Amino acid sequence: MESRKQRLIITPLVLLLLASLFFAPAGAHDEATPGLHPVILLPGYSCSQLDARLTDEYEPPTPACGVAKQGRGWFRLWENYTALQVDPTLLPCFHDQLRLVYDRAAGDYRDAPGVETRVVSFGTTRSFRFDDPTLKCIREVHRRAELAEGTNLFGAQYDFRYAPAAPGVAAWSFAGFRASLKPLVERASETNGDKPVILVSHSFGAFYATQFIDRSPLPWRTRYLKHFVMLCAGGSGSPGIMQVLASTMGTSPPTRLAMFGDRSFESALSTFPSPEVYGDTPLVVTRAKNYTAENIPEFLATVGFSDEEVERYRRRAMPLTRSFKAPIVAMTSINGVGVPTVDKIVYWDGNFTEKPQVVNGDGDGAINLKTVLALEKLVGDDPDQRYFKSVLVPNTTHSGMISDVSALRIVVSEILEANLATSG
Ligand SMILES: *[C@@H]1O[C@H](CO)[C@@H](O)[C@H](O)[C@H]1NC(C)=O
Ligand SMILES: *[C@@H]1O[C@H](CO)[C@@H](O)[C@H](O)[C@H]1NC(C)=O
Ligand SMILES: *[C@@H]1O[C@H](CO)[C@@H](O)[C@H](O)[C@H]1NC(C)=O
Ligand SMILES: *[C@@H]1O[C@H](CO)[C@@H](O)[C@H](O)[C@H]1NC(C)=O
Repeated sequence: MESRKQRLIITPLVLLLLASLFFAPAGAHDEATPGLHPVILLPGYSCSQLDARLTDEYEPPTPACGVAKQGRGWFRLWENYTALQVDPTLLPCFHDQLRLVYDRAAGDYRDAPGVETRVVSFGTTRSFRFDDPTLKCIREVHRRAELAEGTNLFGAQYDFRYAPAAPGVAAWSFAGFRASLKPLVERASETNGDKPVILVSHSFGAFYATQFIDRSPLPWRTRYLKHFVMLCAGGSGSPGIMQVLASTMGTSPPTRLAMFGDRSFESALSTFPSPEVYGDTPLVVTRAKNYTAENIPEFLATVGFSDEEVERYRRRAMPLTRSFKAPIVAMTSINGVGVPTVDKIVYWDGNFTEKPQVVNGDGDGAINLKTVLALEKLVGDDPDQRYFKSVLVPNTTHSGMISDVSALRIVVSEILEANLATSG
């Protein structure tokens, strides 16, 4: 299934080049193929690695943590299940050290007092990883396209606990990300014969990518961005996030770390369904009240967020949720379909700590098809968006898109097509 909204010109020369890329000799994978536009990957949620170090200000939640036990040096906080296997008493420590606090004076989120963190190895994809082999990061594409790390392949990690916030609102983490990605893009272009770059995002990486693009001046985009390939993301969040957040109601000891929906994370409130996409469809159904995409603030209050947190959602996240814009950079969206995906959640008795009845629709298991199809209008119908292509890959899950061989083949061929398309 493929819908091609706009123009794409493939010349015979391009076909020849494509063929030569596909049939490149084995073993050539560490060498960059000349002629390729540089590619910068933005990974999905929690693929980026975080290091931390503690200061004396840190107040440990248990005797297993703190400067006395963990020292003052940098250590791998995320993702390090290996350390937790060796010493399970570190779990509440890591949980505590990963949490964010909201600094009222600064009007922004920051690390917990006494904890400093940094994203590991910005600029390269080498550090994209999960300890858990069932979880995937987007890095695999480089094996299939002829991309060489540091030459024409780069990684743009971000601290997934934070999120882009509405313009004019303090968001130091996202500001730092923008300030790092801009020169990375420029350097990647300049060291590759001034060719503009292709940004490729997976999942939550789309949020950082689209906000980065949106806030870059148009002449800069035209000069430096060849194409944006967005994998597994739509024009807003999906209803499944509401189940995730409801399920984090009440406090139980952490069994896993940094899962989407950790209530202290700014990112937990960033990917709600938008009224532009879902209109007045009930997304959460109870006997007494239905919650549509318009009712996210009420929903948050109902599942236990404080008035201050709800207000923060309105001010920081909601304006972005509701204003997905065409990137005005040639764009290909690739999404899985044919996998049951949450459409609606029923807590009939209004007890949100109970297991809900879930009504499934189509999607990739995480991203609902409705928000994907909304891109045709939000992006495809924008008169300034000259090229937009949406590719739907049957029977492909959210992580299968970047790990199943057949799906990866499609992803790579779309990246190569973006590379070669005359999309001006
Ligand atoms: C995880 O932590 C352990 C112990 O602190 C350390 O030896 C190991 O290198 C860390 N893992 C990673 C991937 O950094
Ligand atoms: C909620 O929506 C359902 C349809 O999904 C409808 O049947 C029901 O009457 C609505 N309930 C309320 C309280 O509005
Ligand atoms: C809500 O459901 C949970 C889990 O089934 C149960 O323990 C709790 O008592 C219920 N609360 C109410 C108010 O019925
Ligand atoms: C999708 O998977 C189902 C069940 O495995 C299979 O019957 C169907 O043929 C598949 N569809 C496509 C288009 O691959």
